[in-house]
Amino acid sequence: MNKNAKWIYSPKNKENRVITFSKKISLSGEVKKATLCASAMGLYFAEINGARVTDAVFTPGWTSGNVHTQYQKYDVTKMLSGKKAELALTAGKGWAVGYLTWYEWNHLYADHMSVICSLDVTYKDGSKESFCTDGTWSVHTSHIIDSEIYHGETVDMTADIISLGKAAVDETVKTKLFAQTGEFVREQERVAPMQVIITPKGERVIDFGQNMTGYVEVRVRGNRGDRIVFTHAEVLDNDGNFYTENMRSARNRIEYVLSGGDDVFKPSFSFQGYRYIRLEEYPFETVDPDCFTSVAVYSDMKRTGFFACGDEKVNQLYHNVLWGQRSNYLDVPTDCPQRDERLGWTGDAQVFCRAGAYNFDVKKFFRKWLSDCAAEQSLRTDGGVPIVVPNGLRSQGVASAWSDCAAIVPWEMYLAYGDKNLLRENYPMMEKWINYIRHAGTIECLWTDRWQYGDWLAMDGEGNQRCTGATQYDFIASAMYANSVQCLINAGKVLGYDVSEYEKLHENIVIAFNDNFMEDGLPCLSKHVSCRIELNSKEQQIVRAITQTSLTLILKFKLYRTEEVRKKVAAKLVELIHENGDRLSTGFVGTPYLLHVLSENGYTDVAYTLLLQEKMPSWLYSVNHGATTMWERWNCVQEDGAFSDVSMTSFNHYAYGAVADWLYGVVAGIKSLADGAGYEHISIAPKPSEKLGFVNCKVETAHGAVVSKWYYGKEFIHYEFEIPSGTTAELSLVDGTKKTLSSGKYLFTTKR
Ligand code: BGC
Repeated sequence: MNKNAKWIYSPKNKENRVITFSKKISLSGEVKKATLCASAMGLYFAEINGARVTDAVFTPGWTSGNVHTQYQKYDVTKMLSGKKAELALTAGKGWAVGYLTWYEWNHLYADHMSVICSLDVTYKDGSKESFCTDGTWSVHTSHIIDSEIYHGETVDMTADIISLGKAAVDETVKTKLFAQTGEFVREQERVAPMQVIITPKGERVIDFGQNMTGYVEVRVRGNRGDRIVFTHAEVLDNDGNFYTENMRSARNRIEYVLSGGDDVFKPSFSFQGYRYIRLEEYPFETVDPDCFTSVAVYSDMKRTGFFACGDEKVNQLYHNVLWGQRSNYLDVPTDCPQRDERLGWTGDAQVFCRAGAYNFDVKKFFRKWLSDCAAEQSLRTDGGVPIVVPNGLRSQGVASAWSDCAAIVPWEMYLAYGDKNLLRENYPMMEKWINYIRHAGTIECLWTDRWQYGDWLAMDGEGNQRCTGATQYDFIASAMYANSVQCLINAGKVLGYDVSEYEKLHENIVIAFNDNFMEDGLPCLSKHVSCRIELNSKEQQIVRAITQTSLTLILKFKLYRTEEVRKKVAAKLVELIHENGDRLSTGFVGTPYLLHVLSENGYTDVAYTLLLQEKMPSWLYSVNHGATTMWERWNCVQEDGAFSDVSMTSFNHYAYGAVADWLYGVVAGIKSLADGAGYEHISIAPKPSEKLGFVNCKVETAHGAVVSKWYYGKEFIHYEFEIPSGTTAELSLVDGTKKTLSSGKYLFTTKR
């Protein structure tokens, strides 16, 4: 961004309408190269002579604006052909200025929109000229009358464009600008209506057949002043009526007023999470479905993972995981895209990031988000990382498994992409985070004295609607602490740092953990006064020592001290699963690891039973209920068809989609090894099951495609592998075959 560019705003735009800043310029020669840099407090789109400079949307994206904000750089050489040009930046409220959260507060980073931009031109004769935002720019209203991310957008093609005079230089903006590091957000899949429904209430509803995030594009020609108004929903209720209660205060309402000519409408500063729209006002007798297209909008990540198997329900589950990610990786990894939330919940991001990195290339996406985790951390002195990043909740809250994203995500990104710089950049944050926990415990080496989310949405809490599950908070917090320290040790070793202090700390955590939480080789109730008395609901959490999640965490983080204990814990886990009718009972914390620990401890068959279970709680339960994305709760739709607690029932939460990393990493058996991160050193260890019949899986890596396929023949299981050049793979088959494979294609068989 040119140093002479000033932040500008419109003092007359008190009500924060969408406005356009513009400037007519004269070029003093023939243009050789022209670069436009732009950013906003709010959202913006830039135009030159009425044409948008990019197909990216929702620029400048969402970062921790109290610290830093991205600017974008566009090559606009081809857009400057004549001697004169008009530059324009249209700004809407977006995340920085508009409404956020269920508290319905606004002005997260600013109470008004401002923009900044520079056009840097090099002429053919070598001379240079720059055009920068300053007080000479003009401001006028736009056809976009109002826009809010949650509430929707109003576009009136008949509205007069009113001049608001000159812009003023905005001295209040303190954010630090940095060149975009994240992916651009772009329009992706375009989905035509599947059907037009008249509901039992007599409402006209369009069903796009897929729950997604984005917006509906409307192409229409009607009378000037005609109105098309619609709202969005994820589901129809039990009676087949349009259901919006789970959107809470988010209105998701779109209003278009037609020009009388050919119109193409879509929102510029608002997006929705939906499968259905209900036409509230529509000027024509019959609904022409061809006028409506649902456009998926998300960060422009390259698809890298592909998985298919012989079980159609598992394939649908995998489809739902992909759409959960598409729907929730819109610049920030969010919990959900539809209700008055859409926040970067750190726990959700952390549990899903492994699966996310198989499905798509998320390196840039997470590099940006991790820089926000660090930015939020820099705003406090204790090293804490908030529960949502960017901190749209303005919360000082810190929670285990959520804030642990600071240690887990950098390590997972390193494993997936092998980029030491990414690890180096984030190491200070990881370290500060560990120091935060160090001072958070009331007894040394345990994290015991903070408010926690527990095993969020586990079904073993008192009553199915209880949110925090039955596993002790301090047990989870201390186990996650051990894991985060382990991530720091791993990272430090890769970077060649001295980590002996952290190795000692890890040892001491394991000792303290065993002293406080283990008895006779199984978990016991905390011997220390614990988090059981400090709760979000003010009542005492009713906890059990032995839960599927407590056992899972011991196994996953290797908190056992002997082989005997490991076996006992694993056997107990299997016992609990059987006692629960071969069903899981885990929440956000236990679920991502559950199938892994089963297959790592000799119970792959039990893991498959859980994967293929159809009774609630299970993954396929939602598939059987017609889900096209992942549900927030195992029981979003209850067995009697009624919806769960409306205050928190999202049909598009990716957290439980973490199961996909078991499909890639264990069912197909493709993993990136830590001593050759970024798939330079690969593990190929498929664990086939006749119940799936076949698997066909590919992971595109920086070295090329890693392929793992298997199918059940009459007598044998047949395998086919592809190892990309420049890599080696450690093959491990179920019959005990172990081999190191160099690049190439391989066929193997094992006896059924
Ligand atoms: C969000 C979650 C999040 C949780 C924190 C919810 O409202 O939707 O996914 O992690 O709060 O416990």
